[in-house]
Amino acid sequence: MTAAPPPTRLQSGQSSETAHLTARARAADAVVEPARRLLGDTHAHLFVTVPPPATAEEALGRLRSLDRAHGGFLAEILLRQRYFEDLIALAVDAGVRQVVLLGAGYDTTALRHTGPGTVRFFEVDHPATQTAKLAALAAADLVSPAVPVPLDLTAGASLRAELTAHGFDVHTPCVVGWLGVTFFLPPEACRATLAELADTVAPGSLLLFDYMDEAVVDGTSPWEGALRMARQVRELGEPYVNGLTADTAATTARDAGFEPVEHLRVTDLVRRYGGTDPYCSDDDFMGLVAARRTGREASGHGE
Ligand SMILES: C[S@@+](CC[C@H](N)C(=O)[O-])C[C@H]1O[C@@H](n2cnc3c(N)ncnc32)[C@H](O)[C@@H]1O
Repeated sequence: MTAAPPPTRLQSGQSSETAHLTARARAADAVVEPARRLLGDTHAHLFVTVPPPATAEEALGRLRSLDRAHGGFLAEILLRQRYFEDLIALAVDAGVRQVVLLGAGYDTTALRHTGPGTVRFFEVDHPATQTAKLAALAAADLVSPAVPVPLDLTAGASLRAELTAHGFDVHTPCVVGWLGVTFFLPPEACRATLAELADTVAPGSLLLFDYMDEAVVDGTSPWEGALRMARQVRELGEPYVNGLTADTAATTARDAGFEPVEHLRVTDLVRRYGGTDPYCSDDDFMGLVAARRTGREASGHGE
């Protein structure tokens, strides 16, 4: 008989440390000289647990050393977000007024959407991480316009019921970002979340999610830096438990009712956004899928 795995960090009521790691990368990138920045998240520094670099040179040094240890991660963390913000901008131009972040972590997109306040952001996250985020915002005397929706995606609660209880409109299209999360959810919770999402968002809605290669999760990947990160997050109590491939990521989306419209690997992201001299490498062990909700409006329940 195999022993049950130890409780994860979140299961034991602690906020996500990997969410801090991604905020740390964004905060360092924001200090890099403007022409070389990959993203430009001016609020990420509010959520870091070590002080952000003081100079552009120090920022590049820190980012390069992270990149040497875990090639591909910086590109994925920063550029999936860049893609997401482009996707939101296009959708808003086309009239979309709702954005959902699943496993929002310390995402600050809502804080930067300060134009005419017509876009509503809903940030779904595990209550432990969400509490930590709200405390950091309060400490900085900031109120995010985002609506917090505390929800453990492994607990079997209805995403549709939770979102509608917080004012989400299931009848108008939205953009959903599910970034840096699928690999932390057991496969059945990942599929259930996708099914719930399909039951929640109106046809035409766009979903952006990223996935980790199965080979990283099962330890057979040729990418050493990825395997090193897998060991590190396991030690933090947030193990990777769900790997996909380019094929299974697309079919998983399709099976749930989302038709992929674009599928980018880390290499593609760097080629698109990295400029002529990107400061990060493109080890290719993750992918990003943009998919559109097909079909007719779900019949609905839980409202
Ligand atoms: C690596 S962080 C990514 C955060 C953010 N999306 C980003 O890109 O920086 C993973 C996020 O998933 C959330 N998460 C992990 N397991 C979860 C669960 N069972 N229910 C809800 N959120 C979860 C964590 O709280 C954390 O915010």
